[in-house]
Amino acid sequence: MKDYLQVFDLTLDDLVHLLDLSSAFRAAPHGAPDVLRDEIVFCYFDKPSTRTRVSFHAAIARLGGEAEFVGPAELQLGRGETVEDTAMVISRYARAAVIRTFRHDDVVRFARAATIPVINALTDTHHPCQALADLLTVRDHKGGFAGLRLAYVGAGNNVAHSLVQAAAMTGIHVVVSTPPQLAPDPTVMSEASAIAEAARSVIEWTADPTEAVKAADVIYTDVWLSMGDPPEQAAERRRTLVPYRVDEQLMELAAPDAVFMHCLPAHRGDEVVPAVIDGPRSLVADQAENRMHTEQALLYALVGGELRGRDR
Ligand code: CP
Ligand code: NVA
Repeated sequence: MKDYLQVFDLTLDDLVHLLDLSSAFRAAPHGAPDVLRDEIVFCYFDKPSTRTRVSFHAAIARLGGEAEFVGPAELQLGRGETVEDTAMVISRYARAAVIRTFRHDDVVRFARAATIPVINALTDTHHPCQALADLLTVRDHKGGFAGLRLAYVGAGNNVAHSLVQAAAMTGIHVVVSTPPQLAPDPTVMSEASAIAEAARSVIEWTADPTEAVKAADVIYTDVWLSMGDPPEQAAERRRTLVPYRVDEQLMELAAPDAVFMHCLPAHRGDEVVPAVIDGPRSLVADQAENRMHTEQALLYALVGGELRGRDR
């Protein structure tokens, strides 16, 4: 396996191996072999980022390498050079590439033309690095995945898609709750359902958030307006999504020891109230920290050719 563009690129064994490696790196962060020594990792960010950008920088440094961060204005891409030529050239300099952009297809094209590992650091459709950190956080706090029920409430796009894929592989029962017009991509949902069946799990969608969170062990939400969404939709989304706000009443319907998760950045008062995200059930700080450990594991395993990958 060369690239990590979506969670379904991994086999279940790959996924478990990455989580185990992440825990080991977390326990001894500077004990890993410096597989990136004297190498650079090309990091292209076409959207803002706090966690992904800085956690990748730390992960690369912990493996002995250097991160080269660039945005669209600094590359000839912005003046019309093709994605393919860019990927071909970068492959001659860097040991791996980390890319955050809008269209998922652009990362697919880059990966196809590149001879180095390519990691999706968020597109409009997937956020697979977030899902790795989320799984590690769930495993740490719940002791495993089997039999867990996770409710995702809010707008159904990149973070929800990657979470659904991660849950489908690990046997977590997921209920996604969004307004119909903000429902997750039906292709992602049906592919996930097929994989979930094999893991004896279920992926469901409902428009009713109170139904979704009933007896849930984990309640997850994300911003209502994503970076690729038209800003003029903000007011309309705020009106539509009010019933999906994670507040104390919604948390009350979940299991008594339910935890709250959010990929961050958060908008307190929109998708979640301060009492929940800043309360004792919130795992957001651990999720954010685990980004660094899982990314260190991912880079290490991809560069070392340790992952088998799934034929899709
Ligand atoms: N969760 C996440 O990806 O955060 P950033 O946008 O800050 O990288
Ligand atoms: N759905 C959000 C996730 C941010 C990490 C966005 O795409 O803006």
